[in-house]
Amino acid sequence: MKTSTFPDPFETARKEDGVLEIDDQNDKVTMLLRHKDVRKTAHNYKSFTSETQPGRIVVPSEVSIRDTRQIPFEVDPPKHGAYRALIEPWFRRPLDPENQAKLTAQIESIVADALCKQTVEIVEDFALPLQSKALTLLLNTPLEESETWISWGTHVFRSEGEALDGDKANVLYDYIEAQLDRTIAQPGEDLYSVLLNSEVEGKKLTKEEAKGVMVLTFAGGRDTVINAVTNAIAYFADHPEGLARLRQEPELIGNAVEEMIRYFSPLTQMGREVTEDTQVCEHAIKAKSRVSLCWASANRDEGIFENANEIVLDRKVNPHVGFGFSHHNCLGATHARQIMRILLSTLSHQIGKIEILSSEDNIEDWKKYRRKVGYHQLTVKLSPLNK
Ligand code: HEM
Repeated sequence: MKTSTFPDPFETARKEDGVLEIDDQNDKVTMLLRHKDVRKTAHNYKSFTSETQPGRIVVPSEVSIRDTRQIPFEVDPPKHGAYRALIEPWFRRPLDPENQAKLTAQIESIVADALCKQTVEIVEDFALPLQSKALTLLLNTPLEESETWISWGTHVFRSEGEALDGDKANVLYDYIEAQLDRTIAQPGEDLYSVLLNSEVEGKKLTKEEAKGVMVLTFAGGRDTVINAVTNAIAYFADHPEGLARLRQEPELIGNAVEEMIRYFSPLTQMGREVTEDTQVCEHAIKAKSRVSLCWASANRDEGIFENANEIVLDRKVNPHVGFGFSHHNCLGATHARQIMRILLSTLSHQIGKIEILSSEDNIEDWKKYRRKVGYHQLTVKLSPLNK
């Protein structure tokens, strides 16, 4: 098996039952595995709510380590729509040509630096700085802020399997708290300032609500982007012909990005709480219990995707749910897509060959399934393209 192969651990359960039950801190979660069920359930917020105890829809549950509600993620319509309307224009900033030019300059410089080194460890020394520097553009904060985020390392608010680490989460909470206090004292032109100066349904956004948005922005866009970037590098190491094809047919880069998000599905699943006794795939599910929408399984559903277990760079019809589905679809998707497009374009123009020297898989281990989501480390040698 190639290093960049990401097996689908859900195939048998998806075909046979459509669901998989896992135990999360002594609380059962019924994972929905089929594309149709995942989309239908994501849409039905009345029976499957996101607006329960803060942290409960996340798998593994974060109820024991936080009480801040993440916004707009842990809010149902119609209030969810009011928050989205407020934040959504800001999250379209990556489409602005000036922002794109800045992001391109950042990524080209990171790739050029990596080319100068003999060997590069991609997770900590390439993907983390890339994700952190790019985030300064999205938040409109000084580039130097990224040094703090990089210094936290990749494990700062990651939950390994079922283990939750409240101390790690506090690094982020304390940081955001301090940033919000700084903004209250001296407003500027960054996302913190915009939030603290906004109203939702005629009321000023509270500091706690602004904190809920910022925590989600940091946490939701960190491991997901780091894994997408790292996994793409591993893929092109194993598939140099893919990079050559994108060089010759750059119009395929958009399709390639969507396909990589489908195949890698950087976010495996997200939960919902059931509001009334119901049934999914002939399984009775009791009110108050949890289900999860397994994006990773839906994205390999053989009834929807031909050759689902392969990366087909020019896949034309690609209804993947890697960025979610319906009203909670990913707010950071525009930013993440720009990062990936610019990265693929830069790699195809600058890199001739990527050799993997060593790697250590990052596996999500839930006993009932083990899923590779990325790498703890991926050390490579990059060679320039001989033009
Ligand atoms: C929501 C995946 C990057 C911020 C989501 C959801 C998914 C997802 C599957 C839906 C959750 C649900 O329905 O409960 C990803 C992937 C990413 C990525 C695969 C990268 C490849 C980002 C980035 C940011 C971000 C970069 C921000 C900087 C958010 C927010 C939501 C969200 C705020 C909640 C939207 C809402 O509730 O209306 N993401 N995400 N994500 N994501 Fe992302």
